Amino acid sequence: MPEKIEEIRQQIKALNAEYAKIKTLPVEERKAFGQKINHQRQALEQQLLAAEAEAEDAAVEPIDITAPGAANKALPKIKRGSKHPLMTELSRLLDIYSRMGFDIIEARQLDDEFHMFESLNFPEGHPARDGYDTFRTEEGFIPPAHTSTMQYRALTRFKSNLDKGGQIAVVIPGRVFRNEDVDATHEHTFYQCEGVFVSKDANMGQMLGVLKQVFEVYYGQELNIKTQPGYFPFTEPSVEMLIEKPKALGGKGDGWLEMLGMGMIHPNVLKTAGIDPTEYRGFAWGGGIDRLAMLKHQLTDVRYFESGKLEFLEKF
Ligand code: DAH
Repeated sequence: MPEKIEEIRQQIKALNAEYAKIKTLPVEERKAFGQKINHQRQALEQQLLAAEAEAEDAAVEPIDITAPGAANKALPKIKRGSKHPLMTELSRLLDIYSRMGFDIIEARQLDDEFHMFESLNFPEGHPARDGYDTFRTEEGFIPPAHTSTMQYRALTRFKSNLDKGGQIAVVIPGRVFRNEDVDATHEHTFYQCEGVFVSKDANMGQMLGVLKQVFEVYYGQELNIKTQPGYFPFTEPSVEMLIEKPKALGGKGDGWLEMLGMGMIHPNVLKTAGIDPTEYRGFAWGGGIDRLAMLKHQLTDVRYFESGKLEFLEKF
């Protein structure tokens, strides 16, 4: 192919030399002669372009554009994605709740003062507000610091269940945000799952029974649980629930892990949502999904979850 191009180039060169002859010709012949070489030159230039295009095409390896990606060697290797470990653990948890009869609603990623504080019995100026390290947008919105911001919505949305003689049983997964110094055990963005249950006779025994069962199904083994006193303005009494580290995860009957904050829903919270606390009682709980996933996969640094690092994500 390059020889052909070279040949045409030589012909063009030879033809260029012909132009010099024009001056030597009688004036009346000059025009016709000039036109003749112009035509020849144009034809040669076209041939040159065609030959160059042909040479270029020949240099490209043909590809089968109908071949599927992975089989097409001409394309970069396509990596298959995988589910994020947090979402895998969250799905397993929600599946357990759903089989127990809980409704599932999703939390918001932007909320307001009322849902973050007032509806949860933190009046203005309440010191416990400071404990939640809340971010605020310039417009005064709040990226929720916990999924409890959804309690008011869950209560009002499912209140009609109570009027029909039923109960409220709902879990609410969501992404939450805290203005915290980030280290191996603290992240500014993480996931929680909230639970709300209301009936005529809800009590702490039911609450601990339900949650013990949820964790036993999740870890696939019997567990020991215990509570310690806690404080949340939206529950009274408030406790923290701990589980003994599961044997399946190397536990030897020693370490206790704090899994949930929980308690009986404060009468003010029920009242604000339009539910009569003298007629109904409720319990609520909330805990981190990151903690479940870290424990399950024996991870020591929570920051990996939000890092977007492929070498981490590819392990799952
Ligand atoms: N929202 C609490 C937190 O993030 C956890 C919590 C405690 C949720 C008690 C509840 C509850 O629903 O009743 O620290």
